Amino acid sequence: MGLANKVAIVTGGGRGIGQAIALRLAREGAKVAICDVQNSEETAARIEQLGGAALALKVDITVESQVKEAVETVLSEWGRIDILVNNAGITRDGLLMRMQESEWDAVLDVNLKGAFLFSRAVLRPMLKQRQGRIISIASVVGLMGNPGQTNYAASKAGLIGFSKSLAREVASRGITVNCIAPGFIASDMTDALNEAQRKALLDQVPLGEIGRPEDVAAAVAFLASDDARYITGQTINVDGGLVMH
Ligand SMILES: NC(=O)c1ccc[n+]([C@@H]2O[C@H](COP(=O)([O-])OP(=O)(O)OC[C@H]3O[C@@H](n4cnc5c(N)ncnc54)[C@H](O)[C@@H]3O)[C@@H](O)[C@H]2O)c1
Repeated sequence: MGLANKVAIVTGGGRGIGQAIALRLAREGAKVAICDVQNSEETAARIEQLGGAALALKVDITVESQVKEAVETVLSEWGRIDILVNNAGITRDGLLMRMQESEWDAVLDVNLKGAFLFSRAVLRPMLKQRQGRIISIASVVGLMGNPGQTNYAASKAGLIGFSKSLAREVASRGITVNCIAPGFIASDMTDALNEAQRKALLDQVPLGEIGRPEDVAAAVAFLASDDARYITGQTINVDGGLVMH
């Protein structure tokens, strides 16, 4: 599954799942640009400690000029872009009755518009190369819904529809576009759950445990590799069996 000589961009790579993805792609041999509003340097330093090549870029993915500048920087440093991972995402939970317009907009802006801006920005180099991988981190919530997360679910379901449409637009040019839908993955949020909450959550998961960021990273590494050349427009669940298609 080697990614030697490949260049990857990981949004939201400063911590959590994005950091695990960046580290895994680097271990596979890719050069990795971390685009985050915070902590990009920390992930880049860890990649360099592993002997890999990294670029730490401070980018707000909702701002077109910052996205364009980041893509230009990667191209001027490394000359190509093979893999884009749209991972950055936020939540602003609340029941719809009480949801503020600002909470709706913030989630749609980061989770969906950010992926649109970055995907559009990398298409030109990928089209020229006649090769590329665009992988977006959606969520099982986009497939099954979740009370209190109408904005988040809409953004993640949106990412899936976006990816299928883009997959059809660029398939003939050697570019694949896929999503990963994680279920419950260990994070600051799941660490804060009490025993009863944890049990209620795990009762829904056939494999009986919370996933790790590395489980998501492994699926990204596969989709990014040449082994996944014949897979496009798909959503792969990494959820311990929570949702079965
Ligand atoms: N943790 C889970 O259980 C879980 C489950 C399903 C899906 N996901 C999805 O996986 C992705 C990563 O989740 P996580 O748990 O690691 O989250 P996290 O909050 O730990 O990390 C998200 C990263 O995105 C960055 N970010 C936020 N807004 C940004 C912006 N405007 N521009 C650039 N960077 C920005 C943050 O700074 C942060 O480093 C998200 O898309 C999330 O929706 C997570």
